[in-house]
Amino acid sequence: MKAIVASVLVLLALSHTTRADASAPDDVPATCLNKNFNVDPFECCKTPKLLDETVVKQCVKSYPPPQDVKDEIKPDCMSECVMNSTQIFDRRQNVNDAKAMETFLEKLNGKSVWADIVQKAVMQCLDDADNRKEEFNRDMKALQQRFPKERICSPAAGFIMECVHVVVYKNCPASVFKDSLTGCPAIKKHLNVDNCPFYTIFPEKKGNKAKKH
Ligand SMILES: *[C@@H]1O[C@H](CO)[C@@H](O)[C@H](O)[C@H]1NC(C)=O
Repeated sequence: MKAIVASVLVLLALSHTTRADASAPDDVPATCLNKNFNVDPFECCKTPKLLDETVVKQCVKSYPPPQDVKDEIKPDCMSECVMNSTQIFDRRQNVNDAKAMETFLEKLNGKSVWADIVQKAVMQCLDDADNRKEEFNRDMKALQQRFPKERICSPAAGFIMECVHVVVYKNCPASVFKDSLTGCPAIKKHLNVDNCPFYTIFPEKKGNKAKKH
């Protein structure tokens, strides 16, 4: 499993204007890559902000997106910070399911067309994370051996953050999704018919990934 990088999470959780920066894992079909839909995916579907922006911003400040390839291999600590701050993780980094549901639904106030979609996404993603527990533990041990002096954050945190946001986007209600906007139907097909990874709907950043801007 290769998680989408932290900057995509930031983008999902915080801002609809940032450009995604993602590197391609090896097992993605070439047909999924280097697409240019010429449209901002969040123009096609304006997903609601699910998390408290103050919390996310604080965590991004404490744990900025990776600057080099080495950092990209490691699970992002920004997500773990969000899980801690929202108390979705308890002190032992076990997921509190009820708290997770409450946190992701909180800002919707129950009324929007999104409430059902978000609820289902959270249930699905918590189940998925549970099923991957052993894989996460294995990954963490391997990374700790590879980077003995460094702090390795929980792979489950980034997984849950990514999963919820991606599943919610993929289930964008027909009443919200802008089929009439050029590029949007192609994005829908790319995700839901061709089953391409979420990050591939964003333009790939050219040049040196480590470069700041
Ligand atoms: C999250 O909380 C745990 C337990 O208190 C702590 O060990 C860990 O360092 C925290 N992670 C982050 C990214 O702040």
